[in-house]
Amino acid sequence: MRIAVLVSGGGSNLQSLIDNASDCYEIVLVISDRQHAFGLERAKKHGIDACCVGLKNFGDAKNDEILRLLTEYRIDAVVLAGYLSILPDFIVNKFEHKIINIHPSLIPSFCGMGFYGHKVHEAVFKSGVKITGATVHFVNAGVDTGEIILQESVAISDETPEEIAKKVLVLEHRLLPHALNLLCNNKIKTEHNRTIICE
Ligand code: GRF
Repeated sequence: MRIAVLVSGGGSNLQSLIDNASDCYEIVLVISDRQHAFGLERAKKHGIDACCVGLKNFGDAKNDEILRLLTEYRIDAVVLAGYLSILPDFIVNKFEHKIINIHPSLIPSFCGMGFYGHKVHEAVFKSGVKITGATVHFVNAGVDTGEIILQESVAISDETPEEIAKKVLVLEHRLLPHALNLLCNNKIKTEHNRTIICE
């Protein structure tokens, strides 16, 4: 499958997809909404076409340009890997059950509007929970509300938000390639707002 990865920051999840590439998917395009996202550099270093499509250079036409690129590159599935913008319905609906996202908590906890990046780990720290983790889920019209595909948890005690983030990132780098392989091998079935994984 031809894959597009959308990033906004450092791109360590993109790197894990590159490092764990299998014969069932090829990353052919990386798009960032931030001009200086290091994820763009990671893509270019591996010979993957990469570009910035953001409000600064495309304004209101940003999402039209994203869809144009996904079409031009004949994209089969999209991975949101630290992508901080919300995809509009006209893109989500065109790629139903073909867009996955990595979220740095155990959905449905610590997710939804306002819960992104480090804000997630700060909320986890303040809450005093004893486990956190990461989730890969399908992207639908909501925010972090698509069917959950994979989750992995990790125990926490007195870690700082920064230490929590590091622990969770290790899980993310394992879960995302696994989920993409499942998707590309058509091993994820969905029914009644849940997934059935056919490993
Ligand atoms: C990760 O914690 C990811 O879950 C969140 O953004 C953070 C940075 O990811 N969405 P990356 O290093 O840019 O892949």
